[in-house]
Amino acid sequence: MEVIIQPNQEAAADLVARVVARELRANPHLVLGLATGRTMERVYQRLVQKHREQKLDFSLCTTFNLDEYVGLPSSDPNSYRHYMDDHLFRHVNIDLRNTHLPNGVAEDLDRECELYEKAILRFGGIDLQLLGIGKAGHIGFNEPLSALRSRTRVKALTPVTLAQNAALFGGQKKMPRRAITMGVGTILESRRCILLATGAEKADILARAIEGPISGMVSATALQLHPHCTVVVDEAAAAKLTEVDYYRWIFENEPEWREFRLLKRPAGSDPMPEK
Ligand code: F6R
Repeated sequence: MEVIIQPNQEAAADLVARVVARELRANPHLVLGLATGRTMERVYQRLVQKHREQKLDFSLCTTFNLDEYVGLPSSDPNSYRHYMDDHLFRHVNIDLRNTHLPNGVAEDLDRECELYEKAILRFGGIDLQLLGIGKAGHIGFNEPLSALRSRTRVKALTPVTLAQNAALFGGQKKMPRRAITMGVGTILESRRCILLATGAEKADILARAIEGPISGMVSATALQLHPHCTVVVDEAAAAKLTEVDYYRWIFENEPEWREFRLLKRPAGSDPMPEK
């Protein structure tokens, strides 16, 4: 895992969008795993901008979203299909037939979950999975008690998640209590993961996710098992991390991140901090 700390949420979202754009340019047939939520909106804004201004081409890529609420048809303004249309799909040259979200109104939800897993496999697996993190530490809707090897399934939402998203529904009572979500095991099979977390309200859970023990109670801790996971945060979300000097040194010195660095220091002026 690597942790990249950016000065603010704009810079953090910018970096994630640049990583996605770089991967998509390198492989136009990219299979992209997508997340929804407020944090991701800034990433999609930037991808739309790159499509408009730099001709970033989505025509050959395939997408799989992490999750969808049970009981919401795609026409519902709170469905994640609606969110994706609004924030990305409608504004870029993606072929909608290549975009996938679980069907939250499927008659047989278990079958729908099985088919979703099969579809991911049919496309050769996910190349790059975007992730946010909930206040209860979920990735996708893998709420506490999610098995670390879980597959796509229906999961009941915790009170923390209901409270986090209730405003969008005009109150908790109107919000679905369950969602279909890719499992932790499904997410861990993606070739690369990139998690974006911004804002002070994510600082505690982020520290537990990155530096705490791996536990099914905080599904984001499972990312510690992933061979290629990048966590991008702003200063506010990084506030409770302990090894920030180490994380900063890696970002400022590893060749992979050269093109993403904001400030270049003169060579030799940034020695590895001593612990
Ligand atoms: C939704 C999803 C969730 C969100 C998380 C953060 O598709 O995957 O895990 O990423 O709840 O949501 P925001 O960004 O609204 O704080």
